[in-house]
Amino acid sequence: MTPRDASIKTREICGLAPVVPVLVIEDLTTAVPTAEALIAGGLPALEVTLRTPAALDVIKAMATVKGGVVGAGTLLTPADVRAAKAAGAKFGVSPGATDALLQACKDEDLPLLPGAATASEAMALLERGYDMLKFFPAEAAGGAPALKAMGAPIPQISFCPTGGVTLKNAPDYLALTNTLCVGGSWVAPKSMIQSGDWSGIEDIARTAASLSR
Ligand code: 3PG
Repeated sequence: MTPRDASIKTREICGLAPVVPVLVIEDLTTAVPTAEALIAGGLPALEVTLRTPAALDVIKAMATVKGGVVGAGTLLTPADVRAAKAAGAKFGVSPGATDALLQACKDEDLPLLPGAATASEAMALLERGYDMLKFFPAEAAGGAPALKAMGAPIPQISFCPTGGVTLKNAPDYLALTNTLCVGGSWVAPKSMIQSGDWSGIEDIARTAASLSR
């Protein structure tokens, strides 16, 4: 898959809802109910981070839930890309970009949402054909004002800001013309997953899904 085709696909996925939940799932038994709650609340695109031993099985399990589009986050290496693809991930997300990672996504036909935090990083990815990027770490890298400033010289790139995004600051990002959606872990807090508060997660998802953009 070419970078251009990857960005067409990730634009489509980021267009599904204003928020992409960033999920850190420790316990496989919580995967399906978490996905069901988020999807029922109106958030179909789910990013499962490869940060727990269960993550690949979580992707496999969540991929069976109707109405969802499950991707793998925290892709750092070609091995991560191959494992994510084999687990059934429909897209990948990375905090940054390396030649090896981009090549692996091309080879594996995995649409990638690569991370960038600066104009030079964004320009380098644009040069390769990516025009849909993750802005990471969003708040630490200057937040909505920084992303807005990036949009003036490089309006052709759209972003999914992630990292420190909350219900409170999400509207500041979603108001920007170069932001398609935001990513965040706040929609599925660890404590609520651990306690099995599925209706609580569905409520948060519903609020997130109603944010305007
Ligand atoms: C990510 O994993 O992409 C982000 O770090 C998620 O950030 P958050 O936990 O601040 O939402």
